Amino acid sequence: MIEYDKDAIVYPYITSFIRGEIPQRHGILKELQDYAEKHSIPIVQPETAKLLEVLTAIKSPKRILEVGCAIGYSAILMAQYLEKGGSITTLEWDADMAEIARENIEKAGLSDSIKVIQNDAKEVVKTLTGEYDIVFLDGPKAHYIYMLNDCIRLLKKGGILISDNVLYKGMTADDEHVIRRKITIVKRLRRFISAQMQRDDLETVILPLGDGVTVSVKK
Ligand SMILES: C[S@@+](CC[C@H](N)C(=O)[O-])C[C@H]1O[C@@H](n2cnc3c(N)ncnc32)[C@H](O)[C@@H]1O
Repeated sequence: MIEYDKDAIVYPYITSFIRGEIPQRHGILKELQDYAEKHSIPIVQPETAKLLEVLTAIKSPKRILEVGCAIGYSAILMAQYLEKGGSITTLEWDADMAEIARENIEKAGLSDSIKVIQNDAKEVVKTLTGEYDIVFLDGPKAHYIYMLNDCIRLLKKGGILISDNVLYKGMTADDEHVIRRKITIVKRLRRFISAQMQRDDLETVILPLGDGVTVSVKK
């Protein structure tokens, strides 16, 4: 039986249908999914994981930047579609999480292509240079707005910025859904979405998928 997700932003039966169509994962990705569930570690939702796979497969990226690594699940997922010799830089503030991610990446045989930087992403993004084909924002939601300029600076022309959790259990879309203690995050997510939509150098779509995802291409 398919379980319903109480925080789904679309009708739960739609989410259940989509999830029911996604083939079971195997190997390290299945192990990490199980580990994340057991230890309540937030990793990308199954349908968002599929979007990531499709976009990375279309791009065959040479360089990916990820903000928010957790245990390395989405980095390992995206690494399948890297161009030969390509690399992922993933940022994680939590030292224990970063250590687990490094172990998982080694277990997946991807230590040469995925580098975990353990530090505050807000500070790290300011210092990064070079161009990335994909930036995946999946870290501190309240700070997406402050990282936007650097993310765009770091994107190649034609590069894609994917930002997860932007509809934040529906709270971003409607005041009546907002939990009081989340108001600051919600206000900043609204600013983040508007900023993306209004920039002349981006083309952006808001997708009601998973917890809400924006996908922007740099023009
Ligand atoms: C949703 S999880 C990332 C999940 C991961 N992308 C996946 O799907 O496998 C968000 C992660 O961002 C990390 N994080 C939160 N604030 C951060 C910051 N300022 N800098 C770097 N990482 C941060 C959290 O510790 C957490 O592990």
